[in-house]
Amino acid sequence: MFNAKPSLLVLSLVGLLLAVPTSAAVKDQIAARLEPVGKVCVMGEDCAKGMKVAGAAASAPKTPESVYNTFCQVCHAKGVNNAPTFADSKLWAPRIAKGKDVLYQSAINGFNNGAMPARGTCVDCSDDDIKATVDYLVSAAKK
Ligand code: HEC
Repeated sequence: MFNAKPSLLVLSLVGLLLAVPTSAAVKDQIAARLEPVGKVCVMGEDCAKGMKVAGAAASAPKTPESVYNTFCQVCHAKGVNNAPTFADSKLWAPRIAKGKDVLYQSAINGFNNGAMPARGTCVDCSDDDIKATVDYLVSAAKK
């Protein structure tokens, strides 16, 4: 019995040490989970950091130039995977020769097993947005 006492004491001390940080960590986790719902953003605080601005981007009017700059230039500015480079008339000439309707279809549906991804990854671009952006690429290549 005498021997059991110190070990019990040690056990309860260990228990206390473990319990305190654990419950603090759990509280932090719960707070973190609740935060996005209940957080109030006070002016001057940097709380908007990391928030998605998808809503704002989606409602902003699209122009061929903004679509190009946001989505297409990633590949078409430097010719990633042999993407025809922006405004390079030599590279675009054989594409343009296929006719605009073919180019529209390539851009909307994707081309060459997704080397050119459908809608150039602009999932919320309408067909007309994509067509206008193709027109923009084609006219830049004709200059
Ligand atoms: C992930 C890289 C990538 C992105 C992003 C991308 N493209 Fe492309 N694109 C390519 C590649 C690679 C090709 C050449 C495919 C081939 O000929 O094999 C291509 C070809 C094209 C062609 C020619 C198709 C044809 O039939 O010859 C058009 C038009 C085009 N892209 C338009 C766009 C537009 C518009 C966007 C943005 C909305 C865009 N691309 C975004 C990689 C990309």
